[in-house]
Order: sequence, then structure tokens, then C-alpha cells
Amino acid sequence: MKLFFKSTLFLFLLVFSTEKMMSQSATVLLKDNWRFSKEVKGDAFSVDYDASKWEKVTVPHDWAIYGPFDKKWDIQTGIIEQNGEKEATEKTGRTGALPHIGTGWYRNTFAVPEFKKGKKALLIFEGAMSEPQVYLNGKKIGNWGYGYSYFYIDITNDLLAGKENVLAVKLTNLPFSSRWYPGAGLYRNVSIVVKEEESFAQWGTFITTPETKGNNAVVDIKAEFHGANASMVTEIKDANNKIVATQKSTDSKEGKFHQTIEVAKPNLWSPETPYLYTAVTKLYAADGTLKEEQNIKFGIRYIKYEPNKGFSLNGKITKFKGVCLHHDLGPLGAAINKAALRRQLTILKDLGCNAIRSSHNMPSFEQLELADEMGFMFLAESFDEWAKPKVENGYNRFFEEYAEKDIVNLVRATRNHPSIVMWSSGNEVPDQWGAEGVKRARWLQDIFHREDPTRPVTVGMDQVKATMESGFGALLDIPGLNYRVHLYEEAYKTFPQGLILGSETASTVSSRGIYKFPVVQAKNKEYNDFQSSSYDLEACSWSNVPDDDFVLQDDKPWVIGEFVWTGFDYLGEPTPYDEKWPSRSSYFGISDLAGLPKDRFYLYRSRWNTKYKTLHILPHWNWKGREGEVTPVFVYTNYDSAELFVNGKSMGIQKKNNATPQNRYRLMWNDVKYEPGTVKVVAFDSNGKAAITKEIKTAGDPYKIVLEADRKTIKADGEDISFVTVSVVDKNGIPCPTAVNELQFKVTGAGTYRAACNGDATSLEMFHENHMKLFSGKLVVLVKAVEKAGAIQLEVTGKGLQTGKINLMSKR
Ligand code: GAL
Repeated sequence: MKLFFKSTLFLFLLVFSTEKMMSQSATVLLKDNWRFSKEVKGDAFSVDYDASKWEKVTVPHDWAIYGPFDKKWDIQTGIIEQNGEKEATEKTGRTGALPHIGTGWYRNTFAVPEFKKGKKALLIFEGAMSEPQVYLNGKKIGNWGYGYSYFYIDITNDLLAGKENVLAVKLTNLPFSSRWYPGAGLYRNVSIVVKEEESFAQWGTFITTPETKGNNAVVDIKAEFHGANASMVTEIKDANNKIVATQKSTDSKEGKFHQTIEVAKPNLWSPETPYLYTAVTKLYAADGTLKEEQNIKFGIRYIKYEPNKGFSLNGKITKFKGVCLHHDLGPLGAAINKAALRRQLTILKDLGCNAIRSSHNMPSFEQLELADEMGFMFLAESFDEWAKPKVENGYNRFFEEYAEKDIVNLVRATRNHPSIVMWSSGNEVPDQWGAEGVKRARWLQDIFHREDPTRPVTVGMDQVKATMESGFGALLDIPGLNYRVHLYEEAYKTFPQGLILGSETASTVSSRGIYKFPVVQAKNKEYNDFQSSSYDLEACSWSNVPDDDFVLQDDKPWVIGEFVWTGFDYLGEPTPYDEKWPSRSSYFGISDLAGLPKDRFYLYRSRWNTKYKTLHILPHWNWKGREGEVTPVFVYTNYDSAELFVNGKSMGIQKKNNATPQNRYRLMWNDVKYEPGTVKVVAFDSNGKAAITKEIKTAGDPYKIVLEADRKTIKADGEDISFVTVSVVDKNGIPCPTAVNELQFKVTGAGTYRAACNGDATSLEMFHENHMKLFSGKLVVLVKAVEKAGAIQLEVTGKGLQTGKINLMSKR
């Protein structure tokens, strides 16, 4: 008996370890040990090259984010036709005024113990800005064009087994190649995948959930593989890791397995219930050895786009309450960081946002993983240009050679993400003009359809009249309109799809905590301080204020949603101050570059967040010198009416009404005269009863620094970040909304100071330096974990202010 037990155990271990050993598909992340230089002389790709003097960096890395800000980088003189400009002017901060132009080299020396004779190896880049030229052990092994593309190179014949390898990557960013800050360098992950010869094809497995059978969901899996006489076993695991279905296939066709597996009583994926399953697909050779095991997360969800009815998710009509996002992470630049992305999505969840458009390029894998997990629908975009240029050295240079390859990689690498519900082949491409453009639109859409027949394709169109005439708009699966609220009705009638998407909306401009008087709606309004007013009434010549979109979203069932430009401010494109220095980041964000909410955040929240109430008062109430002057008060709330009091005196009751779009969505007291003290608002429920109240008060002088962390415990992985909001309050604890004190930051213990950001688009202070001025009373400090667990302390000091301290923790 004893013996039997022993031998069974042995056998089990043997089988287990055999499976493990044989299924040696391993991913090696090339994160450490990199050297970087922009001052390279000679053959930096050769094995013997001495790079010991180059800067030591880790990847992801953005070489330009350390600045300095300077107007001389990438000054773009020209006409921006899309903005309706007629004369050439000098644009200084268009690409962020950071030194991203030029050539940079990266080198890494590494061994891959997992790689042995008979194995296969792929080198994967998840984005390299830009025009990467890749060398391994002195030999050129590949190159790419677009800096946003994912691509891989088969290095089986060039990777040395049991020895050191030298990888060198040359990147080149030309001037006039972008309309925003693109970042620079190896800003996303680089990794090596080692597999058996007989294995699944890279990005070759496609999981869809096309239909239900009674109470069951049908999970359709198509998996491409290399090899012969193989078999495939799939286990579907639920979120608790419990196997809920399995299937074995021995029949394959043209190197592809096709399985349809039923899952009983499925938990459906949606933004409210982001339930994820895992498909464990195992590939066995003819002799029964396990060759590869893939773990692919997916969701069971049903999407439908129906003429005149709209978009439905799992049978429920759903509108996109979406935001467009550029890829930079403010003070971190373009270097991908999951904690920063997670924080963005946490802020967007609170906003009530349910969708993201990756404008105008491929999203990072990390962002898609988080969208799956946290519940956001995703419009994944590919290009900002096709064959016709917007900027001289933009994607137009790569279009002919790369467009198909870029789309194929985008779709194959990301199509299993349940979050993706639509593709976009382009944004405001100048190809909207002319017959060639119509052909290109069809060609690109066909490529998307070929690679993924389950999701529709859109293009964000700004030349709506032209696309009505040329047939461009009619051929798209979903016509997307950028702005042009006045053309929605006409586009709906002209285009055959019976649906219109607000692929890009609003482009309202504002600076957090800055208010201008008199309060009037304006286009392209400029002020001497290069800020825009937070009364949320200022837009560009081509764009509009949020309320104009709300009217269409609410009144037209055939409008399937909107993607607001933008969820967060981003580096570059400082409209309306493109020609003004210093101005280097955008004013479009619902939240600022530091991720701090502007007033507009609460306007959207009052519509989008149906779970929690919003009651927000603007402006702040520190207007020394404006005593007795008209200082309108706006309230953003989901309640229909409210009463306003200034120092206990009623300013009357306001009720939302249809007189203007603003009256419909905001409560406004336009005649309030400023007197210091307390502003209080009482919101009424539908029975006219006081529901909730909110107060703001005039603050005295800044007295004390206050710190608040988004997360007090972070992971000791050298990557995680705690975002600490820093503000100042007066002696009575009242926030000082106009404070601009210069502060210093010190981090001790198991963390490092990484960066700070105050959201001021005109600030030339560098993010990574350990001091910065408050902007409208606030800024955010980023504290990064090291790889050792322990206590971390951040101390913030400022002249004449009581020091702020916060204790954080990092854990394994
Ligand atoms: C759109 C464009 C965006 C951004 C925005 C600013 O036309 O698609 O990339 O430039 O305008 O309003």
C-alpha cells in the first residue's frame, strides 16, 4: 500500500514535470541592463562596440521626457489645414517642446538560458518610437516604420544558445512627424518568446463568442499552429480558476484547429460586470508531449449595431460615454506604466465613462488588459494619416509599405480583448478628399474584416460634406463624425448605415481652477496668461462645448455615443496657444495633465455617473479685488434644481430647462456679486425636498501642506507608483485655490521620487526635478516603489508653510 502510494506520487510528479519541461514556452522581458545614447559615433550595432559610457536605463524608457522644455525642439512652421488656417505660422509647443527629435541607440547584452538548439525564438516590440532598425549580434535582423506598431522578428537563427547576445536598436524621430508629443525610444516592452518548433503561431489564436444556445454560450476558438499530427486540448476556466468546459481536437485543417465549446450559464462581460474567463489551450505533438500552453483571457459578450436602433451590448442598448486618450502619461511621458494607466481608468470609472478611443494609434497591451479587467469598451484606432500627409514626415511615408502589416498586427495581437468593440482605420485623414481615398478606405476596412469579421470599422471624419459626396462615408461600417454637431442630422439622412458615432466630440478648452470674466461663450479665445476659462464655455473654431453634444446624445436614438476630446490633458497641441510660448500641453482634458479633475469633470460626471450623485460648485471663492462685481456661479449636478446661498442670503432657485443647451445641463446663477465668505448650494430631489448640500469658502493665506495618496500600499516591484495629491490649506483647513507656492519633495525608505506635475500647460519646470510650484493650489507627486519592500515616506516642504508628510508602504 505504502509502496503503491509512493509510486503513484512519483508518476504524477513525472507527468507533471514532463509537461512542464516539454512546454517550455517562456517569455523573457528585456527590462534591465539597457544602455542608451543619443551621441553615437561609429558602428553602435557591432558586438565589440564599447557602450560602457552610455546612460544606464530600464525599458520602457522615454528619452525625451527629461527635457528640458524648449521652443527650439521641433518648431513647426506651417498651415494646419484641418484647423481652418489660411496662413503659415510658427507653432512652438505642438509636439510638447521636448527633445524627441533625433537618433537614439539602445544596447542590451543578455543570455537566454531557455533557448536551446531546436527551439524557436521571437523578439517582440510592443512599440518603438520610431523607425526601429534592429541588430542582433552585429547583424541587421529587421526594421519597422510606425512607432506605434507592435511587431516581432523571428530570431531563431540569430540568437545564440548558452552565450551572451548583443541586441542593438537604432531609433530615429524626424522633425514634422507628429501633431502631438509622440515620446521617443523603447517606450513599450521588449521581450523574447522562446517556443518549441511545434507550437502555436504568434498572435494566431482567435476567440469569439458568436452566439448563445439556450442558457449556454458558444465559445469559438480558432488556433493556428506549426507542426503536423498535433492535437489541441482547451480548458475554459472561470474567474475562480475552476474548469467549466474542456474540449479535445485531433482534426486540424490547414494548420488550424477550430473548436466550438459550450459554457453553461455564462457570466457576461460588460463595463459593469467585467467578468473574464481564461482559455487554456494546449498543443500536443503526435507522441503526446505537450508543446505549448497558452493562457488567454477573454470575455463572453454580444455586440450588435442596428440601423436606427443603436449599439447594444448583451442585448441592451448602450451609448458610448467615451473619451479619447493620447498615449502619453503626463509627467512619465510615453514610457508605459501600468500603475499610471490604472489610475487613469480609476478616475474615468468615477467619471462614469464606459469607453475609450486610443487616438490616433494602437493602444498598449497594458491598457487593453486593464480595460478588460476594469470594464471599459474600447475603440482601437490605427492611423492619423494614410497616403496624404498632415505633417510632412508623418505616417504617409509608411502607408504603402506598412498599412496592411500594421493592421494585421494590431488586430491579431489584440482581438481577444472583450473590451474592443470597434476598430478605427483612421482619424481625419486628408484622404477623405478624392477618389483614391475612397479606395483606400475600402481596402483598409476589408483588411480589418478579413482579420476580424466580428467588429465594425469606423473612421473619424471631419470633412463630412466631402465624404457625403464621394461615397467615403457610405462605405464605412460606422460613420464617425468628429465635431460638426450641425451636420449630424444631414449625415444620418445621407449615409445608409442608420447610425452616427460621435467619434470625437467637444474639444472644449479649460485650465484647472482658472476663471475669466465676463463669462461668455467664445471660440479661440486667448488671454495674456495663456490659460482658458474653467466656466467651460470656450472651444475652438471647429469644436463646441459639451452641452451641444449632450443634446444630440440624449435626443437622437441613432447617435450611438461620443468620445470626448480628451479624457486627460496631454503633452503637445496647446490649442488655442499653439503659437504662444511657453505653452506646451493641451487644454482639452476633462482632467488636467496631472490627472486632477477640472470643473468639466463634474459636468460629465453629472450625466455619466448614474450610480453616485454629483454636486459641484464653480468658480472658487477667492476673488480679492472683485468685491461687488458680477461673478457667476455654476453648479454641475444630476439634480434638476437647487437653491444657492451666499453668506446665508438666497440667490434664488434655478431649475434646468430647455432655453439653451447650457440651461438644460447646468444650473447657473449669472448675477451673483462677489463677497468673501461661504457659497452654499442645496439640491432638490424630484419631490422638491432638499437632498444634498455643498459649500465652498473663501480661504485665508496658505498655512499648511496637505497630502493625500491614491494608494497607500503599493507593490515592491520597482514599477508601481503612488500618486500623492498635494494641496495647501489655510489656518482653518480651508483649501487655498489660488496658491502657487514653490514646494520641495523628498522621498525616503523603500521608494524613490519619480516626478511631479501641476497641470499648468505653461509651466517649464521639469517633471523629474524634486521641486515645483502649485498650480491653482494643487499638484501631484509620483512616488515609485523599488524592488525592496518596506516603509516609504514623502515629505513636502515650502517656505513659510507647515510641512506635509505621508507614510506609504510597499509590499511584495
Ligand atoms: C481633432 C483631431 C485631434 C485633435 C483635436 C483638437 O480634429 O482629430 O487629434 O487635434 O482636433 O481639437
